Amino acid sequence: MDDIRSVAAALVESPKGILAADESSPTLTKRFDALSIASTPETRLAWREMLFSTPNLSQWIAGVILYDETFRQRTSEGTLIPEFLAARGMMPGIKVDTGAKPLAGTRGELVTEGLDGLGPRLEAYRAEGARFAKWRAVLTIGEGRPSRQCVHANAHALARYASLCQEHGIVPIVEPEVLMEGDHSLERCAEVTRVVLDAVFAELREFNVDFRAMVLKPSMVVPGVLADPVGVDEVAAASVAVYRDAVPASVAGIALLSGGQSDATATAHLAAMNRIGSLPWPITFSFGRALQDEPMRVWRGDARNAEAAQAALARLAAANSQATENR
Ligand code: G3H
Repeated sequence: MDDIRSVAAALVESPKGILAADESSPTLTKRFDALSIASTPETRLAWREMLFSTPNLSQWIAGVILYDETFRQRTSEGTLIPEFLAARGMMPGIKVDTGAKPLAGTRGELVTEGLDGLGPRLEAYRAEGARFAKWRAVLTIGEGRPSRQCVHANAHALARYASLCQEHGIVPIVEPEVLMEGDHSLERCAEVTRVVLDAVFAELREFNVDFRAMVLKPSMVVPGVLADPVGVDEVAAASVAVYRDAVPASVAGIALLSGGQSDATATAHLAAMNRIGSLPWPITFSFGRALQDEPMRVWRGDARNAEAAQAALARLAAANSQATENR
């Protein structure tokens, strides 16, 4: 257990965070399509190899979450991606859920699947170099949403996943994401996030998960995208208040998702949370879009833009790294 505790601590220790480059192929294809970049296994590899080769990336990034396709690919020099990352001082992680599927008995809510055969998959990933894993649950806010059934089913699955990860020597990143879609208020998001985190930690306890050997990846407490925005400090205060109520102090750390916020906004929120100070756990970033959207716009599938795209990633990673240091 000590080994995974130290991996969990290293993933969240300031001044570093996590790069979430684990979009499934269909999701990455959507992002590529928007920029007219062809999506093939080769172009997806070129994109990710370019990102991971950014000079000095490990100054700001402790670990990278990969999708299975990338986990099995080799760089142009013939090195397996997990080995390439490890050699550059970044821990390879792996997304192991198989996506959010309709949850029977609810009105269109989703439950994340992927528990069948997960034990042997984790064993193989660990043998191939994965040090941590990720499982994302999604919850929406709306009339009667999220339902008790949806909260419970997702919390239960997250806990079974986390427990299995630890049994296989892998640090679980536990990601219950409350989506920003809708016109709900900051207060409503706070209320829902608290209910969700309470349910998740109750289930994690039930399945004997070692909190010191896990990372929580929550959404920030923000009003819905269709509601009036609130100030950065208000978001930070509301988020930290909910986390303080619901997240045990023994959890190794919190690594936030960006959830569709602009990169500048996500970074400002992270910095404001850390400015509050005297937090029981480190709060860092595990951003996908807020680290990659700008580099992707710069790269556009053209190797001639690689250096500029890497510079964009380095700038964003450094800014987020700095946002963890305001403690
Ligand atoms: O599962 C979602 C990713 O790990 C985080 O992505 O920062 O774009 O929300 P995001």
